[in-house]
Amino acid sequence: MNIAIFASGGGSNALEIIRRFREKGENGRVALLVTDRTGTGAEVHARKYDIPSETVPPKTLRENPGELSDLLVRYGIDFIALAGFLALIPAEVTRKFSGRMVNIHPSLLPDYGGKGMYGDRVHRAVLADGQRKTGITVHYVNEIYDDGEVIFQAETDVAEGETLESLKEKIRRLEHANYPRVIEECLKKLQI
Ligand code: GAR
Repeated sequence: MNIAIFASGGGSNALEIIRRFREKGENGRVALLVTDRTGTGAEVHARKYDIPSETVPPKTLRENPGELSDLLVRYGIDFIALAGFLALIPAEVTRKFSGRMVNIHPSLLPDYGGKGMYGDRVHRAVLADGQRKTGITVHYVNEIYDDGEVIFQAETDVAEGETLESLKEKIRRLEHANYPRVIEECLKKLQI
């Protein structure tokens, strides 16, 4: 199965997914990186592993969603993994990839999800609310931010005196340890 990773940022999850499917991904290969802006860390990782990258800006996603659909057909994409992709995926694409598109979110959804809730903003809100627990969620994607069916969640404690940086690091470790594996399980189910 051909996987496309969508990423907008540093791409540490993208890198873990690329590595997993290079080393032990029996059910798929990463065939494409899609970004919504240029100059991302994710592109650097893709280049290093000879994975093609394409940029589709948010305006194009909004006004001409067919461009993204065409791109996915051109690369023969079967499955999409969002890894810190900040733009909303057009409904045309979420419908076509229903059950074949997943996202990782750095909280225990439905808590701290929705439009504008991403990255540091999520961790800051968790800390500001004095939560004692947070975690990660992998879910299927539909046309509403952070709304699709939950596939996997993992919890972590928020320690006394936890800082933004220390919490980010905990969440990142949890994501890297689980997201590539959960993607592979989703691919296996699709192949039965
Ligand atoms: C990850 O923590 C991911 O959960 C989050 O963005 C980060 C990307 O980090 N995604 C969201 O907040 C989606 N709403 P990375 O670029 O290092 O993989």
